[in-house]
Amino acid sequence: MKKILLLLAFFSKGLLLMATEIKSPNGELVLNVMVKEGAPVYWLTYKNKPVIKESRLGLQLKNDQSLMEGFVISNSFITSFDETWQPVWGEVKSIRNNYNELAVTLTQTATQRSIIVRFKLFNDGLGFRYEFPLQEKLNYFIIKEEKTQFALAGDLKAFWLPGDFDTEEYSTVTSKLSEVRGKMKAAITPNSSQTTFSETGLQTPLMLKSDDGLYINIHEAALLNYSALSLNLDDKNFILESFLTPDAIGDKGYLQTPCQSPWRTIVVSDKATDILESKLILNLNEPTKFTDVSWIKPVKYVGVWWEMITGRSTWAYNNLGSVKIDQLDYSKTTPNGKHGANTAHVKEYIDFAALHGLDAVLVEGWNIGWEDWFGKWKDNVFDFVTPYPDFDVQEIHRYAASKGIKMIMHHETSGAVPNYERRMDTAYRFMVNNGYNAVKSGYVGDILPRGEHHYGQFMVNHYNHAITNAAGYKIMVNAHEAVHPTGLSRTYPNLIANEAARGTEYEAFGGSNPDHTTILPFTRLMGGPMDYTPGIFETHVSKINPDNHSFVHSTLARQLGLYVTMYSPLQMAADLPENYNRFLDAFQFIKDVAIDWDDTKVLEAEPGDYITTARKAKGTNNWFIGNTSDENGHQSNIKLSFLDTGKKYNAVIYADAADAHYQTNPQAYTIKKMVVTNKSVLSLKAAPGGGFAVSIIEIIPAK
Ligand code: NOJ
Ligand code: CA
Repeated sequence: MKKILLLLAFFSKGLLLMATEIKSPNGELVLNVMVKEGAPVYWLTYKNKPVIKESRLGLQLKNDQSLMEGFVISNSFITSFDETWQPVWGEVKSIRNNYNELAVTLTQTATQRSIIVRFKLFNDGLGFRYEFPLQEKLNYFIIKEEKTQFALAGDLKAFWLPGDFDTEEYSTVTSKLSEVRGKMKAAITPNSSQTTFSETGLQTPLMLKSDDGLYINIHEAALLNYSALSLNLDDKNFILESFLTPDAIGDKGYLQTPCQSPWRTIVVSDKATDILESKLILNLNEPTKFTDVSWIKPVKYVGVWWEMITGRSTWAYNNLGSVKIDQLDYSKTTPNGKHGANTAHVKEYIDFAALHGLDAVLVEGWNIGWEDWFGKWKDNVFDFVTPYPDFDVQEIHRYAASKGIKMIMHHETSGAVPNYERRMDTAYRFMVNNGYNAVKSGYVGDILPRGEHHYGQFMVNHYNHAITNAAGYKIMVNAHEAVHPTGLSRTYPNLIANEAARGTEYEAFGGSNPDHTTILPFTRLMGGPMDYTPGIFETHVSKINPDNHSFVHSTLARQLGLYVTMYSPLQMAADLPENYNRFLDAFQFIKDVAIDWDDTKVLEAEPGDYITTARKAKGTNNWFIGNTSDENGHQSNIKLSFLDTGKKYNAVIYADAADAHYQTNPQAYTIKKMVVTNKSVLSLKAAPGGGFAVSIIEIIPAK
């Protein structure tokens, strides 16, 4: 159903001051836009409370007069839109896209240039973007800086990452905005990045909470041919202002009309659960243009991966260190004896996946080049098609296919983008020829061309090229170290997941805060699914590699809960088969849990404290519940009123034992079975750093 209503159109040339107001469909959000002394401004309220106070809009251009002042409103249209669409995969079966829209044409009288600012006001927030129509006086232009402001109502609590153009793999800091400056140095130090842009620079998605209980999330949607958004904080006045990722010479974007910016998004509610259920960012992306999506399928996988991350085995085949790949015959070098990706070992993973009904096996370190992947010049390190001598591509393909298992390709580019682009089609063709329909790609290290950043326009275009090009080969993409997702999987559903945050790997690199997974859904996951790689049962990493003394900051039961709280159509069972074999009763949940859903209910949530989510598995009446809790643990009382009336279900509850604790007793769990109905209430307690998981399977009476 599509309903576009032209409500109002008027001309106002010559007027210096003009205000326009629209409301969200339910009337709770009110947006005002006006030009004040030539400068466009907007403000937003929710239930009469200020969300964004009067804030300026506009852009500075390089070598040209800025698009910030001297404007009049020359046109303004208000329309409404209401449709419901079905995602290829997702948290819910169908998504309502309902908003009132205001498109304001701003004309800079002196330069005869016009831009449109288009606002879409939904019940769950606001999206707006700049549009640059084709016109005589604005053709090619270079962005010096986008100057979009978000003036907040006060000193809000923030869940933030340091502004960095190359990594999002920080621990989130929770603090008042006024404390950001004081905490910045300590926040950066563990990553020692050189590219943080100021003492008050923040990444998006930025999660905020006001003292009077308003939850506000600021991010962007549909990031295409533009640099990624960061925010610079004025910590005296609590005004956030856009700060785009620069290129090698400091420019922020090269555009040609007609063109537009990504959407700037503000999701707002007085309920934290609403933030997690918001579909605003997806709704601001274009519907998919793919006509055939039958090849895009959610995936549950294991991989030759955690053993390298923990340091038990290696990606590299020998110990030669620096080598030129095209001048070395690997079959004549001596293996280091720790190479994970060897045919016999890969077959063990295939056997494990087949035995337990998983879909796929990822293998990293299968291709030559890892001896020198951080190499000084690194432009010619990987070719993505030549296996090490102990990895038999054809035999593995044959064996996996015979067991109904898919292989997942791995392309670590080490940030050498020209090399990857040069070889990409050959690499994708190699995948098709050898039965791979999904690739995990990666961009570790400094970007080549030198001086480019992971989140600049050049790289944004690269990531999107890799996705659209892959679609031509019916290949799904899971890109690590790529730019923060912005809902593009609606348009390109073969973008099955991203990393773009601190994943489970950090539990083997010293660990993450116990509240990390209670925050990620409010920040990183707002833009799209994450390949977080949960499911680590052996939480003492030294049991895998005696030299590694990290531990996983989570109980085992919480590792199960994450399959529900951390939404992704791509889910890894990240631990080693030998560890799952020790806890097969708990592993049953990972086998059972769905990865595609008809419905989702976030039952309770508070960023930094806990999240409890229930999801209904696609095409069934079965539900799965997950919880993740911070270092204080959490008591939940869950009403199963969302189950169908009159039906009975078998519930299996995987919970922390009474004495469980993420530091001292992480592997203490209990498994309870019971019959439940929609009248049942589950009283469940998550331990410190703990959580729980519940499977609820409909009992279908025998005929
Ligand atoms: C970092 C990725 O996040 C990780 O999953 C991968 O194993 C390594 N890079 C090597 O590519
Ligand atoms: Ca990573």
